[in-house]
Amino acid sequence: MQTASTIDALRSQVAKLRGSDGATIGLVPTMGALHEGHLTLVRRAREACDHVVTSIFVNPTQFGPGEDLDAYPRQLEADAAMLEAEGCALIWAPDVAAMYPPGFVSNISVSGVSEGFCAADRPGHFDGVATVVCKLFHQVLPDMAFFGEKDFQQLAVIRAMARDLDLTRPHVLSIIGVPTVREADGLAMSSRNRYLSAENRTAAGTLPRAMKNAIVAIERGGDVGSALSALESDLIKAGFDSVDYATLADSASLAPITALSGASARLLVAARIGGTRLIDNMAVDTA
Ligand code: PAF
Repeated sequence: MQTASTIDALRSQVAKLRGSDGATIGLVPTMGALHEGHLTLVRRAREACDHVVTSIFVNPTQFGPGEDLDAYPRQLEADAAMLEAEGCALIWAPDVAAMYPPGFVSNISVSGVSEGFCAADRPGHFDGVATVVCKLFHQVLPDMAFFGEKDFQQLAVIRAMARDLDLTRPHVLSIIGVPTVREADGLAMSSRNRYLSAENRTAAGTLPRAMKNAIVAIERGGDVGSALSALESDLIKAGFDSVDYATLADSASLAPITALSGASARLLVAARIGGTRLIDNMAVDTA
């Protein structure tokens, strides 16, 4: 496995991987501090493509003023060992100056899907994500790019950007959303789960259960508003401090849905417990 830290090195390594027979390249964009969720993306990319390129870049433009960019874990050596074991071919690990050279003034802003939900208290976050992911697509020119469905709003922003800016050819032929990896009790895996006390960790298992109950009620034709209120009160009863949002939304535009209409729908929830904000989302069958 190679590591590239300049654009020239990246391009020459990617060209070598492609070879004369046009081997396929899968890109897994990350900010490092890899966990099982990331490794699942790498495995999925390995199955679908001849070679996997994983980017590791802690992107400053997606951090807000109050968010501690400096404290974000950086562990390139440990990440590299995990990626090597998973058969990743190349790590793209630029520094900030390589990604945003002095004088960098451009920004990609995807309206609609970038608003509300996780952006409500993180203004500009998804502009930072869209801008860096657009650059990664141009830099690596992958055939496929892999993102976790856990960050469903991020995935929706990236899909909208790729569609609107014609990034799907010749750059990323397909953007693959990989289903969320879950703990035995259904809690979505997240690096934030480690901040939960034992008691809160047990209570957190209510989140996926309450979401499933709401989905069953909605799919059976129940009132959407009542199902979402029941979900919120289940979480508060279980020990959650507050619910930031519990919304049924159109899977592509993320516009809220109040009644099933046949369009693809998603239940999205963010709730806080013991100072930790947990997010989750699940598909709702609209048939
Ligand atoms: O999901 C992440 O880790 C980041 O938002 C991403 C997609 C790598 C962009 O910096």
